[in-house]
Amino acid sequence: MKITVLGSGGWGTALALLLLRNGHQVTLWSYLEQESATLREKRANPVLPGVPLPDELELTADLSSVRGRELVVLATPSFAVRSTATKAAPLLDEGTVLVSVSKGIEEGSSLTLTQVIEEVTQDRFPIAALSGPSHAEEVAREVPTSVVVAAKDRAVAELVQDVFMNPVFRVYTTDDVLGVELAAALKNIIALCAGICDGLGFGDNTKAALMTRGLNEIARLGQALGGRRDTFAGLAGVGDLMVTCTSQHSRNRRCGVLIGQGHLPQQAVREVGMVVEGYYAAAAAKSLADKVGVDMPISQAVWRVLYRGKDPKTAAMELMAREKKPESEEVWT
Ligand SMILES: NC(=O)c1ccc[n+]([C@@H]2O[C@H](COP(=O)([O-])OP(=O)(O)OC[C@H]3O[C@@H](n4cnc5c(N)ncnc54)[C@H](O)[C@@H]3O)[C@@H](O)[C@H]2O)c1
Repeated sequence: MKITVLGSGGWGTALALLLLRNGHQVTLWSYLEQESATLREKRANPVLPGVPLPDELELTADLSSVRGRELVVLATPSFAVRSTATKAAPLLDEGTVLVSVSKGIEEGSSLTLTQVIEEVTQDRFPIAALSGPSHAEEVAREVPTSVVVAAKDRAVAELVQDVFMNPVFRVYTTDDVLGVELAAALKNIIALCAGICDGLGFGDNTKAALMTRGLNEIARLGQALGGRRDTFAGLAGVGDLMVTCTSQHSRNRRCGVLIGQGHLPQQAVREVGMVVEGYYAAAAAKSLADKVGVDMPISQAVWRVLYRGKDPKTAAMELMAREKKPESEEVWT
């Protein structure tokens, strides 16, 4: 199959390599000509050290490389999905399958990324979202990984499953596109918070509680918006939450650690260097939660730390001191 991957960050590059290994003809598009030139010269991406880019992987900054493709993967940071899809849309052949692999909610519109793509392409192309616990650094090194692909149309989900799946990359399917995308975006807020807790010097108990209660509240919002609760118990939900809250590779967690250690949020985002999706997702979650009237104490506290200058330790102590309540809304009924 002829495939173009849009976005040559760690994730786009790791997936381009995976697709190449799966026997496809792959082009990796970079946003900047300079970025593509460096990849061509070094035949490696600095964010994936020790992973060579084979000669068969075509590297370009020319967006017309989406022409004549059966499948196009969108792997830019979430803030660039709209602009990239807008520029690519007129160049796409009819029937090209689009796969969104970015994790975020668009700032301002609060749309999920497949909703953004559907809007700019006027729903002209089959579309899927791929998500799950999958750090680029590990996928590039062929560490066994499992993900889930979501599409409204089962045939599209199964086609994407076939294209990506191999002995070290297992792909499940689901029809809950909204649930998968919300889980993917919202868990980054909890990962950022896990980092803050680490930076403050809290322990394993804190993190386990944060992950459990965090999952609970992002699932509550996801369900209120139309996602399925069981999606949050799957790879895109708890799976990705576990990996992002505990991993050394997680930039959201790393950003949180810096904040917990006393860096200002903006400073921490700059220091991490790569896109910190949780920072933007916290703002989107706040407006979505306000809109549908869902209580999200952890995400709200993170939002206050990120956008209102709240001291992280005070925010944590206030969370602990909230009014006492049963663990689940379904007991004592
Ligand atoms: N890195 C991972 O392990 C991983 C895993 C799964 C999902 N993701 C998601 O994939 C997305 C991309 O992540 P990444 O790690 O590859 O990102 P990254 O921070 O490494 O950046 C990706 C690329 O985006 C490009 N870019 C910057 N501004 C742009 C613009 N205005 N238009 C188009 N492109 C632009 C940059 O040139 C860069 O090559 C994110 O949403 C992330 O959450 C990442």
